[in-house]
Amino acid sequence: WYRKVETKKRYTITSALPYTNGRLHIGHLAGAYIPADIYARFKRITDNDVAYICGSDEHGVAISIRAKKENKTPKEIIDKYHNLIKKSFKDFGISFDNYSRTSSKIHHKTASEFFKFLDNKNCFEIKKSKQLFDPIEKQFLADRFVEGECPHCGFKHAYGDQCENCGSSLSPEQLINPISKISGAKPIEKETTHWYLPLGKYDDFIKEWFLNDKKDSAKSNVYGQVKSWIDQGLESRAITRDLDWGIPVPHKDGNGKVLYVWFDAPIGYISSTKEWAKNENKDWELYWKDKNTKLIHFIGKDNIVFHCIIFPIILKAHGGYILPENIPANEFLNLEGEKFSTSKNWAIWIDEFLNDFPGMQDSLRYTLTVNAPETKDNDFTWKDFQARNNNELVAIFGNFINRVFVLTHKYYDGFVPESGDLDTVDIEILKRAYKMPILISEALDNYKFRQAINLLIDLSRLGNKYLAEEEPWKLYKLGNIERVKKIMYVSLQLCGLLSLLSEPFLPNASKKIRDILNINEIKWTDLSFDNPILEQNKTINKPYLIFRKIEDNEIQNQIKKLKS
Ligand code: MF3
Ligand code: ZN
Repeated sequence: WYRKVETKKRYTITSALPYTNGRLHIGHLAGAYIPADIYARFKRITDNDVAYICGSDEHGVAISIRAKKENKTPKEIIDKYHNLIKKSFKDFGISFDNYSRTSSKIHHKTASEFFKFLDNKNCFEIKKSKQLFDPIEKQFLADRFVEGECPHCGFKHAYGDQCENCGSSLSPEQLINPISKISGAKPIEKETTHWYLPLGKYDDFIKEWFLNDKKDSAKSNVYGQVKSWIDQGLESRAITRDLDWGIPVPHKDGNGKVLYVWFDAPIGYISSTKEWAKNENKDWELYWKDKNTKLIHFIGKDNIVFHCIIFPIILKAHGGYILPENIPANEFLNLEGEKFSTSKNWAIWIDEFLNDFPGMQDSLRYTLTVNAPETKDNDFTWKDFQARNNNELVAIFGNFINRVFVLTHKYYDGFVPESGDLDTVDIEILKRAYKMPILISEALDNYKFRQAINLLIDLSRLGNKYLAEEEPWKLYKLGNIERVKKIMYVSLQLCGLLSLLSEPFLPNASKKIRDILNINEIKWTDLSFDNPILEQNKTINKPYLIFRKIEDNEIQNQIKKLKS
């Protein structure tokens, strides 16, 4: 029955390429990585062809600024943070099929060729204009090299390319009272030549493709931001810069100029796919050019215009590429009521989290999913983390599984009992349980991760309720052995189902439960009421606790650490 709903499809799933100018913190994970990882795992376990793609974003002014700050070369900076970030993702268990980097050869080649192709197709305008220039450092002040007041919301520390407060994308000349981030000087204006992408020419296209066609499928927070951007009118955007760090502009007049980081970075999704396909002996073009492939970009809200307007226009201008099916951006996560801040060290760093809570990735995944900033900004607090872990993962999910495993060993030495004919209540429970893969799939297909993970917990709640009502321990004492076998048989099937359904959300717990149950990963598409997950008479291994409680002092220590 499930097969009818879902037939095998190809998915190219991306998470925003993180800048290699700092370590990863849990705010990053909540925005673009955990939801994408859940989605990619979900698509794999429902038997689809998935390429989950990411990599480091290593160009742009953010890197140069960090290099100045640490007194290092940009190359030293990207190597340092690329390795740290890559390791954090790996340790945390994000299941990228490929994690590349934009300093790689394959990316430089892919991005340069992309630019040349568009240039030859006359897709760009070449214009002279006056731009902000640092009179002391003798250099142009692109993007984050200049800060000033946002003309839209009045925020005092807007960057030259973007206001992080209201999300609007800016150019340096628009800033009120600009100031150089390099020398602190007041910039002067100087003439220079750049390549521009004439977004205005694609006004009809973007209105049709996004505002019209994505009206029902786009998340409302995404749709609203894109609409207001289009309503303000689409202007030409420079896609080159006068900087010395980046991909050199491949043109005879491109001396001293590089591609704008937001031109090359999204192309990084393509080069990372190429790198992966080459290693795996696959055809990368299927993942970017086949009409049956669904391309999904997971991002944070500050990346919306780039992924919903600019990159699709670049792909459209090139021609031959598919366009994203959806761009499920999240809002921001705050930490204990304040914005994450690398410079103020107001963050929970992934590597430190894993040091302090070894093996507890799933607890963090759980909290960040159940409390995800899906439609509005949300707050992470250590107390909530503790409560979610102790009251939900441990007390509901873990408790059900543990009780079933312990009773199975106590009554049957670990054998799955023979059930005989099931009673009506048992059949009812199993029928409800087997609806879960469908319900969870529906939620995930609509990017409702909070709802999906709540359904998973509901299933373990259902199991607890069943045990509490049937009271097998009482019946066992009363000698009603046949009835107990049925209850335990049904409960074990529920555990099997929980192990499989939890894979996208809680991959470590899922694996542990499957190991105890001695079962392989079964695709959700092969699950059915008539085809039990656990055979009668098979044995299960000795259980141990899958989750652990978090003590008050652990939380107090974290709060102390954060505030110091
Ligand atoms: N590095 C950017 C950021 O952290 C995201 C780049 S996403 C990509 O905001 F599309 F450009 F790759
Ligand atoms: Zn603003």
